[in-house]
Parts: sequence; C-alpha cells; structure tokens
Amino acid sequence: MSVHQPNPKKVTTHRLLEMKQKGEKIAMLTAYDYSMAKLLDGAGIDVLLVGDSASNVMAGHETTLPITLDQMIYHAASVIRAVNRALVVVDLPFGSYQGDSGEALRSAIRIMKEAGAHAVKLEGGHEVKESIARILTAGVPVMGHLGLTPQSIYKFGTYTVRAKQEAEANKLLEDAHMLEQVGCFAIVLEKIPAKLAQQVAQALSIPVIGIGAGGQVDGQVLVMQDMLGITQAFQPRFLRRYADLQATITDAVTHYITDVKSKHFPNEQEQY
Ligand code: KIV
Repeated sequence: MSVHQPNPKKVTTHRLLEMKQKGEKIAMLTAYDYSMAKLLDGAGIDVLLVGDSASNVMAGHETTLPITLDQMIYHAASVIRAVNRALVVVDLPFGSYQGDSGEALRSAIRIMKEAGAHAVKLEGGHEVKESIARILTAGVPVMGHLGLTPQSIYKFGTYTVRAKQEAEANKLLEDAHMLEQVGCFAIVLEKIPAKLAQQVAQALSIPVIGIGAGGQVDGQVLVMQDMLGITQAFQPRFLRRYADLQATITDAVTHYITDVKSKHFPNEQEQY
C-alpha cells in the first residue's frame, strides 16, 4: 500500500478547484477540538469540517438542531489553533442563517472573525440563495450542502437516502447549478444515489464532495468519530471504519483502572 505524501502548501479554495481540474480527489473529515485537529492536519487531510454534527458526537444530542452559534465558534476556534495546512470550513448552525440574509451574514462574520475560520457551510438550495449571496458579498467563501440535510430532519422524518424519485433528483440538480452560479466554491452531497451524484459532479465545475454519494464525485467526507470507530451504533452502508478506537480506548482504560486498583501505577520511575 502506498502512503499518501501530502503537498505541504496550505489548502485554499483555489487549490480545491485545481484538484478537481486535475482529477485529484479531495479528502475531508470533521474535527471539533484541538488535539484531534492537530493529528488530522498532520496526517495531511485537505479539508477539516467543523460540522454541526458536533451536536451529536460531542454534545450527545439526537439531532444537529440544538447546537448554537457560540458553541460552533468555540469548536471552530479550537480546530483553527491546531491547523497549519488544511482548509477549515465551519457549519452555520440551525437558526443562524434561515431567518434573513442579514442574520446569515452576521453569523458568518462572527465565525470568520471570532474563530478565524476559512469558509462556512450551510444547508439547502433555492430557499437559502439570498443568504448565500449576502454572505459572499463580504468575501466569505461558502460551501453548499444538498441531499440529506440533517437540519431538516423533522421535515424529512427519516435519515434515508434522498432524491431517489425523479422530481427530487431534478430539484437537487437545479439547486446544485444555482449554488455554483451564486458563487459557492464547493458543495457537499449527502446520502443520494451514486449515479445522481456523478451527474452533478460532471455538470459542475466546482468540487463536489460526497458522503454516502458514491465514488464518482471529487472528494469524500466522513465524520471522524464514525470512521475511527469511536461511535459504534451508527452503521450506515456508506461508512468505512478505518480503526476500532472504541476497543482500543476501552482496552487502555480498563488496563489503567486495573493498574491503579492493584497499585501497579504509578511505579518508582513514575514518581518524584
Ligand atoms: O456536520 C457534518 O458533519 C456534516 C457532514 C456530514 C458533511 O455536515
């Protein structure tokens, strides 16, 4: 197996476009804290997404809806402090951009100013076009997100595959074109048929990054806790686990507990 050698140059939105043009795939993962972000950046990840999935994996909420803008800024600032190379994209949380475009702009500016983010991401198509356009007027790069958009879970009712029917697939295609035209630098497609995702990636000149959207797109994103096997209950078909950290961590912690209780930790060398 060949080991990936990352290009040491900082990743920018322009670099992502160049990667699409050259057919180089984009690797993106979520991150929410300093220590993990440092590891992922050091390993050569191209894009780190401070996702509102922090609401699930960091705070233990059932959905992404409860996380606040202040909490997103806290996570984003921690990630930014760790990163030397990756592009850091931060999710605008539910309720921080849907109201009106002025509110969307204020939320995006807070994320850029207070966390030092490089770009923001928000969910939706035509219904958020005005907000995206307004954010772009301030020079803030925007990543779109279509398909399964978890902030709308109470509208969808389930987390099943989206856009399987022709009408929804056509709307997704139209929305994708609109996101490119309005000025998004990339879009995420979540949990849609691979053929449709391929069609979108071929039709657009901006990078299309998939999660559960097949391999014929310009890059992939996964939630870090899922791909490292820290979370075990979440087992969608698209998820590949690259480690079983739940077992590794449980093993280490039980070993530590045993050592403490049996007085094997600390030993003579581990004290002053
Ligand atoms: O919040 C998140 O983690 C996301 C990814 C699933 C794309 O939006």
